[in-house]
Amino acid sequence: MWKKNYSRREFVKKNSLTGLGALVAMGVTPSVFAGFTKNADVPAILGGQPVRTMDWPGWPVWDSATDEKQVLEVLRKGVWCRVGVEQSVVADFEKKWAETLGARRCLAVVNGTNALIISLRMLDIGGGDEVIVTPYTFVATISAILEVGAMPIFVDIDPETFQIDPEKIEKRITPRTRAILPVHILGLPVNIIRIMEIAGKHNLIVVEDACQAWLAEVNHQKVGTFGNAGCFSFQNSKHLAIGEGGAIVSDDDEFMDMCHSYHNCGRAYGKMVDPVGGNYLIRANNLRMTEYQAAIGLAQLKRLEGHTAIRNENAAYLKSQIKDIPGIIPYKLYDNVTRASFHLFPFRYKKELFEGLPREGFLKALSAEGVPCFGGYGGTLNTMPYLDDAFRSKNYRKMYPAEMLDFQKFVEQNKCPENDRVCNEEAVWLFQSMLLGSKSDMNDIAMAIAKVQKNAGMIKAKI
Ligand SMILES: Cc1ncc(COP(=O)(O)O)c(C=O)c1O
Repeated sequence: MWKKNYSRREFVKKNSLTGLGALVAMGVTPSVFAGFTKNADVPAILGGQPVRTMDWPGWPVWDSATDEKQVLEVLRKGVWCRVGVEQSVVADFEKKWAETLGARRCLAVVNGTNALIISLRMLDIGGGDEVIVTPYTFVATISAILEVGAMPIFVDIDPETFQIDPEKIEKRITPRTRAILPVHILGLPVNIIRIMEIAGKHNLIVVEDACQAWLAEVNHQKVGTFGNAGCFSFQNSKHLAIGEGGAIVSDDDEFMDMCHSYHNCGRAYGKMVDPVGGNYLIRANNLRMTEYQAAIGLAQLKRLEGHTAIRNENAAYLKSQIKDIPGIIPYKLYDNVTRASFHLFPFRYKKELFEGLPREGFLKALSAEGVPCFGGYGGTLNTMPYLDDAFRSKNYRKMYPAEMLDFQKFVEQNKCPENDRVCNEEAVWLFQSMLLGSKSDMNDIAMAIAKVQKNAGMIKAKI
């Protein structure tokens, strides 16, 4: 439930500050702070009054009319697994998610990680294959490539958009390249049109990691529906929050039948129970979603469109309010993006324009003003030991020539300096649920950033 309760004192404070936030938001220079009361003018990190003390919208959101009712119905029915059920809740969820995206088919699975693994495996990506990917992602994207025995090849990001830079992809294509795995990271679409062009030219498979990009669109088409397969996550922090859960979408019936079979112990598609005499078609796994998960998914789906609209409106407004604050560079969307999902609201922080205050100091100071924020992916996935662990494994040693498994050489060849800078120095993320607030909430954020900006020198000297 959203935590929207606040005391009268907080209400009065909020409304008086909101007026000031609006001024900053309107581009009034920080000299406006001369009118602040002394304590409010002092950065909260140095003991002053924070811009905001109210709670932000919480996450996840649910209610008794839909979520509780639908979960209880499953509980009371006593059928909690899709196996052997003619019309399961999971199948209903799959139908609705496919319809929502404009895809022919959907398969619900245990999580986004396995949605990616199943897709790669069923598209026959494996040992000896190279898969082009961004380092600016959650580790699961790369783990999925390693889990099928393929080799991740890292391509740097465009720092303006935080996405894989399509113009750097072709240089990294080799005779071993089989696939591109673009990630619509932070819920901002990649330039999928350009990526599909490159994939077409080089005859490459495309698996979209849309695990953070529910309902995002490029040219009015939902992301996840451009490539051979699109993968989604419904983990707790996600906009369609189930706790855990994932999905694959595609228009390719043969591929989807194979995915279905793989996630259901190798049984033929449509056979949810063991055939008489047994007839397991492929070596497989059990990665089925439960009926409870699907019930929550169906309930959450009813809110997704409304929430996405609010997030888009607030993100555009907040961007307009902070873009002129020196040292703040908000995200940029590609021209063909017709909608983003804003799993996070990202901007880049330039410490040179904050009197040299390092990003960590900025994050602490902004948080102290009542605006929770963080620096995002804290390490660079193209340099971490998990890669070396895969390279040292028996399977990798059998599948790849030794020079490809030299970790130092790999790190050297997979350098991504733009990603390094964004991860280590510049990125600042605001949580998705903050974008479900009001315009005055967005003004609070803008005002807090401007306040830290104005006082950056003093903060740097004192913390
Ligand atoms: C970009 C990305 N890919 C893959 C995943 C994996 O999804 P899951 O956590 O459902 O396994 C996530 C989840 O955080 C993600 O953000």
